[in-house]
Amino acid sequence: MVGLGTGSTAAYFIRLLGEQVKNGLRIRGIPTSNRSQEQAASLGIPLTTLDECQEIDVTVDGADEVDPQLRLIKGGGGALLREKIVASATKQLVIVADATKRVPVLGRFPLPVEVVKFAQAMVAKKIEALGAEVGLRRQAEGQPYLTDENNYILDCRFGRIPDANRLARQLSDMPGVVEHGLFIGMASVVLVANGSEIVELRRGH
Ligand code: A5P
Repeated sequence: MVGLGTGSTAAYFIRLLGEQVKNGLRIRGIPTSNRSQEQAASLGIPLTTLDECQEIDVTVDGADEVDPQLRLIKGGGGALLREKIVASATKQLVIVADATKRVPVLGRFPLPVEVVKFAQAMVAKKIEALGAEVGLRRQAEGQPYLTDENNYILDCRFGRIPDANRLARQLSDMPGVVEHGLFIGMASVVLVANGSEIVELRRGH
């Protein structure tokens, strides 16, 4: 069982996985977004859903930021909710990123927070009170961006998140927040590409 991440990096993985499947690799994939589902299906990767299987061996995904404790910001591509659900059902979460995404402290990248539409203004105010500049994510045409689960995304510019664990708890405690893009204690391995060199980071090492 292989969880299929979302984003430009995960798309490379899905393409290569498709080649392996054509060469005889026997796996089943669980996509983290409609986009990844369409890509995987077009490559002939056999797919299943969390309804059929709740234990995933390995998931390969990208990230927007990685700190030294392998805590992540994810959701730049808007798929953080399904990504976190799949990650939580996964034995080994492998993150692939380039060196620009390694940061000493999270928060340079705006933290995506998925909210129910009804609560978006209220949640935005609460997150502003925590020190962020908050913007409702919009599509190029101006209307609000909708996630695969039909929610909105607030992009929250903190600049620096000195205590990511505390912020994660505060966000999870806000009624109306469906999920946030802080992935803490989830990544098992981060593969960082720096030019042609690949650095392997493991949690607790
Ligand atoms: C998708 O919602 C995100 O979590 C992506 O994993 C993240 O934004 C990384 O995307 P790229 O690989 O496109 O940089």
